Amino acid sequence: MRYTLRTNCIVPLNDVKRVLDIGCSEGTWMLEMANDHPHTRFSGLDIVEQMKDRVLPKNCDFYCADILQGLPFSDATFDFVHQRFMYSFVPNDSWQGLVAEMARVLKPDGRIHLVERHFELGRYQTDVVSLLGAFNRAIHENQVSMAICDRLDELLDEAGFVDIDRKCINIPVGDWGGIPGRLMGEAVVSWVQDSREIIVQRSGLTHQEFDAQMERAYDGLSEARAYYSVFLYTARKPVNKKSKRRKSMPLMGSC
Ligand SMILES: C[S@@+](CC[C@H](N)C(=O)[O-])C[C@H]1O[C@@H](n2cnc3c(N)ncnc32)[C@H](O)[C@@H]1O
Repeated sequence: MRYTLRTNCIVPLNDVKRVLDIGCSEGTWMLEMANDHPHTRFSGLDIVEQMKDRVLPKNCDFYCADILQGLPFSDATFDFVHQRFMYSFVPNDSWQGLVAEMARVLKPDGRIHLVERHFELGRYQTDVVSLLGAFNRAIHENQVSMAICDRLDELLDEAGFVDIDRKCINIPVGDWGGIPGRLMGEAVVSWVQDSREIIVQRSGLTHQEFDAQMERAYDGLSEARAYYSVFLYTARKPVNKKSKRRKSMPLMGSC
C-alpha cells in the first residue's frame, strides 16, 4: 500500500501524541510510522502475540487482545486510530460495535483512518480469481460482508463521526501493474496456493484441477488486468459530542 499510495498515511500526523493501530499483525505500518514520527507513541494491537517478544522502538508498544470483545483502553486515550485490511476478520454484525469502540477510545477531535478493500478481485475471468472467489465464499459466507468497504461511511456516521471522507483506488494485481502489481499478484497467488486444501474440500475441484488452474493463475491476472478496489476512509470525532456506544458490543476483554 505504501508503494502504491507513496505514503503510509494519507492524514498528516501533526501534533499527534498517541496512535492506535488495530490488527497490527507484524507491525509493518506501526514501525514505519514510528520511525517517521519519533515524538508520537504508537500502540499496536493484535489477537496474535507475534509482536510480544520483539524489541520495539522506544515509542512503540504492543497489546494482545480480541477486538471483538472491545478495545482494552480507557475512553479518550488516542489522538489517531488506524485500521487496515480487517474485512475478513470482523463479522458483519460486529462492525458497528467496533467503530463505536474506536470512537470511544479516541480523544475529542481525534481522527480515524480505515483502509479496507473489496473482497473480490475486479474482473473475474481468470483461474486465480475464480479460485479466490470460491475460497472467499466458502470460508466467509454469512459471517463477513463481501463488501464492508462500501458501507464504512454509514457506520462512521452512525457512531457520531464527522468530516467523513471516502476515497477509492483500484490497485492493479499482476505484472500489468508494474512493481506494486507484481507484489500484489504474488501475494494473491500465494494466499490461494496456501489455501489449496480448503479450496479443494469446499469447491468440489480435484487436486489436479486446482493445480492446473494455479499453473495459469499468475499470468491470468495480467491478461485480465485484474485489480483490487481499496477504500480509504478518514473521519473526525467531534469535540462536543459523546460517542454513541451500541448495546450489542461485548464488554472489554483481552487474551
Ligand atoms: C490482514 S492482517 C492486517 C495486517 C495489517 N493491518 C496491515 O495492513 O498490514 C489482519 C490482522 O488482524 C488480526 N486479527 C484478526 N482478528 C482479530 C481480532 N479479533 N482481534 C485482534 N486482531 C485480530 C490478525 O491476527 C492479523 O494480524
